[in-house]
Amino acid sequence: MTLQAPRVYITRRLPEAGLAPLRAAGLDVVMRPRSSPVPRAELLAAVAGVAAVVSLLSDRIDGELLDAAGPSLEVVANYAVGHDNIDLDQCRRRGVTVTNTPDVLTAATADHAFALLLATARRLREGDELVRSGTWTGWEPLQLLGRQVSGAVLGIVGMGRIGASVAARARGFGMQVLYHNRHRAPEAERATGGRLVSLEELLRSSDFVSLHCPLTKGTRHLIDADRLALMKPTAVLVNTARGAIVDESALVGALSSGALWGAGLDVFEHEPELTPGLRELPNVVLAPHTGSATEVARDGMARLCAEAVVTVLGGRVPPNVVT
Ligand code: DGY
Repeated sequence: MTLQAPRVYITRRLPEAGLAPLRAAGLDVVMRPRSSPVPRAELLAAVAGVAAVVSLLSDRIDGELLDAAGPSLEVVANYAVGHDNIDLDQCRRRGVTVTNTPDVLTAATADHAFALLLATARRLREGDELVRSGTWTGWEPLQLLGRQVSGAVLGIVGMGRIGASVAARARGFGMQVLYHNRHRAPEAERATGGRLVSLEELLRSSDFVSLHCPLTKGTRHLIDADRLALMKPTAVLVNTARGAIVDESALVGALSSGALWGAGLDVFEHEPELTPGLRELPNVVLAPHTGSATEVARDGMARLCAEAVVTVLGGRVPPNVVT
């Protein structure tokens, strides 16, 4: 009698290199061969009887999905560091381990946040459009004046791995770092000279504000109309964390009225939809949630997911457990 290998369902095509540990462990790997999000009905049918699911941030892992998978499900390995798409309580109740992908994407995401900060401050999108359109008539003293990054004050909301990494980059630009976090981050303070302040003080005093906190019940719309009103009219908001941390309608209002100078956004409240008005604003730089989109980071994320699945199915506890 041959025993069936435990099945691992991967909801979208992932970098093959990172998946080697799954293949080496002899698991029955079913990877959906598409890059688009899996339709809900297809997902519910595909997880029946699996031992592991490798999920993406667009897959809702809730009671309904866990029921559809049944008691064979041991681990959900989320291909992201954020895990707001997963109902952790439901997973805990059923003894399903949840893992994420920290560290491997820190540098890529911090680079991206800084790229958005610079691109917004120096109006690169408008400049690119001007040159491309063929209507540029040459150097002008008052053309596309932006904000000076060097020497400015950077406020980091959420001084975790990515926040600290952005702060470290800011030091190279001679920026002064303020941060807001649930608790002090002494190591990041030592490395970046950052100073812990209240969210209100951070918003009032910063020339650039970069968001790096997780999306939770407590941080949904953390940056709402009242908090946006605290920011300097010359300030820039950068969001590479989760769209819903910002009230996007209020942001559109602040950017259109000139209450806020600009925004660099990699994430959106209703991805992939944009709040009406956002697309038309000249003072925003928009990226399609590509913070971790480097080969190194994405291969690393796949590897972490694969290793977590093999570890849990082998009866051990991986280091990147979030439940
Ligand atoms: C994450 O990891 O949470 C990003 O949003 C996708 O890489």
